Amino acid sequence: MLMPNRSLLKVIVLGDSGVGKTSLMNQYVYKKFSQQYKATIGADFVTKELQIDDKLVTLQIWDTAGQERFHSLGIAFYRGADCCILVYDVNVPKSFETLQNWHEEFLKQADPTDPDTFPFVLIGNKLDVDGGSSRVVSEKTARDWCALKGNIPYFETSAKEDYNVDAAFLCIAETALANE
Ligand code: GTP
Ligand code: MG
Repeated sequence: MLMPNRSLLKVIVLGDSGVGKTSLMNQYVYKKFSQQYKATIGADFVTKELQIDDKLVTLQIWDTAGQERFHSLGIAFYRGADCCILVYDVNVPKSFETLQNWHEEFLKQADPTDPDTFPFVLIGNKLDVDGGSSRVVSEKTARDWCALKGNIPYFETSAKEDYNVDAAFLCIAETALANE
């Protein structure tokens, strides 16, 4: 009997506290959004199954804490990741500036065989805030950073309005699968 073509992909979501990591994940997996902020403590994962070509892919999405005092995940946690999702808030410059640290920290901890080609995907979230008028980080600035880091795919989303969330995660799954 032919076994189904299956893959388990581990992806890790990193970024400053409050940028919307948990919200993006909840929107993608449960189609739910809450205005209320509840800080993630430590890390936890949810899974989502999807079909990519002839493969049944189980995406294991690890949501992490942005708050400093909850950082202590350690090497074992990052090891074996197939893709790293970096998230910032387009309305908060600091959350964009910190991407550099998240990127470096991930590579240091995960220690992939080839750090130059390890797949990342960048998400600029909260596009909906004030109808876009409080946005401070431009799409060009974000894309320039992605180009600098080796052509990281970039998505702008609203977890609140479910804008572009599916597209971002599909790209994440495809990127992770290609790297498996
Ligand atoms: P930590 O767990 O502390 O790292 O934060 P987080 O990145 O998981 O942020 P979280 O998803 O908890 O969202 C923080 C706050 O922003 C919550 O009040 C959310 O409701 C809100 N939020 C998240 N995404 C969006 C969005 O796309 N638009 C708007 N307007 N608010 C959002
Ligand atoms: Mg969270």
